[in-house]
Amino acid sequence: MEGYMEKAVITFDNTQRTFHLRNETISYLMSIEEGEILSHLYFGKRVTGYHGSRHYPRYERGLSPNLAGRPGEVDRFYSKDVLPQEFAGNQTGDFRSPAIIIKSADGALATDFRYDSYEIFSGKPELEGLPQTYVKQDDEAQTLAIKLKDKTLKASVVLYYTIYADRSVITRSTRVFNESEYSFSIEKVASLQLDMPKQAMEVISFPGSQFHERQVERAPLRQGITEFSSRRGASSHHMNPFVVAVDPNTTEQTGEAIGVQLVYSGNHQFTFEKDYIDQVRLVTGINEDGFSWQLAPEKSFQSPEAILVYSDKGLNGMSQTYHHLLRERVARGNHQYQDRPIVINNWEATYFDFSAKKIEAILDEAAPLGIEMFVLDDGWFGQRDDDRRSLGDWYEYTSKLASGGGLRGLAEKVHAKNMAFGLWFEPEMISENSDLYRQHPDYAIHIPNRPMSLSRDQYVLDFSRPEVVENIYEQMTAILDRVPIDYIKWDMNRHMTEVYSTVLNSEQQGEVAHRYILGVYDLVDRLAKRYPDILFEGCSSGGGRFDAGMLYYFPQTWTSDSTDAAERIRIQYGTTFGYPVSSMTAHVAAVPNPQTQRITSLETRGDVASSGVFGYELDVQQMSAEEKELVKQQVAFYKEHRHLIQYGDFYRLKDPFLSNEAAWEFVSPNGNDVLVYHFRLLASSQQNFTITKLVGLIPEGIYVDQETGEKFSGDELMNIGRYDDPTQAGDFTAQVRTYFLED
Ligand code: GLA
Repeated sequence: MEGYMEKAVITFDNTQRTFHLRNETISYLMSIEEGEILSHLYFGKRVTGYHGSRHYPRYERGLSPNLAGRPGEVDRFYSKDVLPQEFAGNQTGDFRSPAIIIKSADGALATDFRYDSYEIFSGKPELEGLPQTYVKQDDEAQTLAIKLKDKTLKASVVLYYTIYADRSVITRSTRVFNESEYSFSIEKVASLQLDMPKQAMEVISFPGSQFHERQVERAPLRQGITEFSSRRGASSHHMNPFVVAVDPNTTEQTGEAIGVQLVYSGNHQFTFEKDYIDQVRLVTGINEDGFSWQLAPEKSFQSPEAILVYSDKGLNGMSQTYHHLLRERVARGNHQYQDRPIVINNWEATYFDFSAKKIEAILDEAAPLGIEMFVLDDGWFGQRDDDRRSLGDWYEYTSKLASGGGLRGLAEKVHAKNMAFGLWFEPEMISENSDLYRQHPDYAIHIPNRPMSLSRDQYVLDFSRPEVVENIYEQMTAILDRVPIDYIKWDMNRHMTEVYSTVLNSEQQGEVAHRYILGVYDLVDRLAKRYPDILFEGCSSGGGRFDAGMLYYFPQTWTSDSTDAAERIRIQYGTTFGYPVSSMTAHVAAVPNPQTQRITSLETRGDVASSGVFGYELDVQQMSAEEKELVKQQVAFYKEHRHLIQYGDFYRLKDPFLSNEAAWEFVSPNGNDVLVYHFRLLASSQQNFTITKLVGLIPEGIYVDQETGEKFSGDELMNIGRYDDPTQAGDFTAQVRTYFLED
């Protein structure tokens, strides 16, 4: 077997003083410039060697400061204010967004980190307590650790760069060390800074809201600062921790794209700054707003990780790199590569109003349809009859399921039907009306003497406190040890306000939001390790914490509380830019849709949901015999194709944000099996004919349409394409075509 090592190489050229990280597809170049400043040279398509082509021009610019020194001895043609850098300081000559701000004991905020030393090693160091990309064997990747020092502060930072041998990926993170005798306060620390000389750049971001996650926005950058961020205590529906920098002519299939994604679930910040000569800087990491971290002498602080991806094959090329990486080197555990079960969830069928009898009736209907798992959603614990109570009381609501033998009895009934049993939790929250709040009101995040903001009538638990995490861990394990549970839906339904912890001192209050997320990671890590067979699904009022951080613990996430097929087409389209289909759950709901009142056909709803990790979220008892028949067929179709859907190569073909259509395609890694979904959004009284062209096929292969038996060559389907069915009536119609390669 060919070693990975020959493919991922990091070198330091002593004469030019340049670092070069490269594999077969990408190169990343840096140099140590005058004054020991670590400067950025290049990130993009692989080059075999570097001979100085990006040497930064010397040019005198008014009001751009020069290095510190004596008048007459300092080069006036050289300024950090425009020089592309790897980790810019604050208030020391570069007026652009800094990568690091440290407040020293005297109150000064200046930082100036200069090159000190480097180390190159195989593999990738583990980041303690944080989610991260990983390697399975050391020769899969090489890591460069560059140490920079601020001599005045007596602080150092280590910048980590890991390059994978066979992926167009570089991961980055930063560790700050206090080498002085005094504590100082980190006010900002970037996971990644990327300076780009590009001038006409567009940025794609993924904003949204509950029911409306990961919409795709693309806009040219203007001079000044453009920021994409969250201050909600969560990565949020409102701005996903992921951006893409593209050329104006980059498309889904062609052109260059650079993706930057944070492996983090808390407050984040992506700052683009286009400077006064149109160079672009991107700085990303924990949101500096509200953040600070007291660093005592000899202590260090580790930033979350950022994943940098380069593609010269358009946005699909970038997405596939993320899909593979997140599936293969972020997700973990027994379910990482397992076909995910088809779920029926009772939420939209019953809401809080269920009984053992009602649930059993749903089961009786669902099992014969071939559905594989039943999930009991919110309402099974404490006195939970509505969303105003009982969060924090993770013990069984005994009277609710009493007639069916309680939770255990229900789990056994589900198992007797050959189905798996899943349960809903919202472990990070507390209701005022709960035993936990009555016993420990201080467990809720609050500022003493200040009124507490409610949201969904609940508060957030102070997970920055280990004893609070421990309390919830004990309660959850008591249930999980007693009831045979196969799956957990882990919800999180409000954001953080009055951010404060009663056990931290006044200087440490800026640490609460990050410590909270570390507490969440600690809890989910312990639970996932203790119950390796449980499949965890992340959720946050839908897809409010759909990020690579949560994917390290939970291999799948509820994509959105919107179950409307029309809305879902866009939400799922946007989600696939950064996240694999195996992580994206999608259910068929009843019509009129509970959120939009829209009516779409069961066929379309099935086709939208079967483009992700499939399930149902409706009352099967309300369905007609024909509808149940159709559900059976959908379930059978999904079982036949689910491996291809969940683990095949996914391509976006037609953009529902820009046209009246959407189309996407799944191709097996060997190119043999193909599944194409086409959606027409609104009908027209004078219907245009549309053509869908495929990608990623074997050009000379002969592909058979499974339904009609028609045969087409791969390049015919890719270059000429086929007409989409114009005869379907009504809005939001779907067509699915399946092909296999002839022997
Ligand atoms: C959130 C989730 C829903 C459901 C409810 C239950 O909104 O996203 O799927 O579980 O909570 O309260």
